[in-house]
Amino acid sequence: MSDRKRKLVVFSGAGMSAESGISTFRDSGGLWEKHSIEEVATPQAFGQNPKKVLDFYNQRRRQLYEVEPNEAHYKIAELDEMFDTTVITQNVDNLHERAGSERVLHLHGELDKGRSSVDETVIVDLKGKDINLGDKAPDGSQLRPHVVWFGEAVPAMSEAMEEVQKADLMIVVGTSLQVYPAAGLVDVCNPDCEIYYIDPQGEPWPNPNLTVIKEKASIGMNELIKKIS
Ligand code: APR
Repeated sequence: MSDRKRKLVVFSGAGMSAESGISTFRDSGGLWEKHSIEEVATPQAFGQNPKKVLDFYNQRRRQLYEVEPNEAHYKIAELDEMFDTTVITQNVDNLHERAGSERVLHLHGELDKGRSSVDETVIVDLKGKDINLGDKAPDGSQLRPHVVWFGEAVPAMSEAMEEVQKADLMIVVGTSLQVYPAAGLVDVCNPDCEIYYIDPQGEPWPNPNLTVIKEKASIGMNELIKKIS
């Protein structure tokens, strides 16, 4: 019996943070019902009306300081003891880290960081501060949110695919799997990888190792931990 810890990848989306009070994007009452993607989440929008885009992310960043990780975040952090765990999240919030998860890969950026609007590798910590027009990045360019907008590349994708290909177990939580390339991660698992999909609206995809748990993240994680521990 090898004493190597089994490799676990947790792949999460907005539903993971719903029970912390953060809206998802595509559920009823979700962010994309209240805001137009074209006006707040594309590089073109930032070119045309930077103040509107900055206000949208400033408001979300302030909210981050009013919410806490939920039970599902903590359950995932506890899995670090049993598994060699990597969390790959589409979320720009820092709730996985605040719950104690040590290895978290953000595919779509991080709300509490800003970056240069000309060089994506120039990144600064915001510590909750708003970004305003005229705020400069270290390279002198206008500071922008360190998030991946629609139409922009996802730099962390290749690292994420490597992690998934090595996984013995994958837990997919709270994502509609509608946004690519991120959603394609569920197709790069190796053939022996067990997959669990926790989402109240979760629909299965063709994979013999897939189990769908149509529950909210906190209930689903409790149920799953009984199964895998
Ligand atoms: N627990 C688990 N899942 C939940 C919960 C909950 N409490 N509440 C809602 N969900 C599920 C919904 O059923 C839905 O399938 O979370 C999912 C949220 O889907 P989306 O709003 O589409 O969010 P996500 O999949 O993360 O979006 C992907 O799209 O807008 C962009 O960049 C943004 O990272 C985001 C990406």
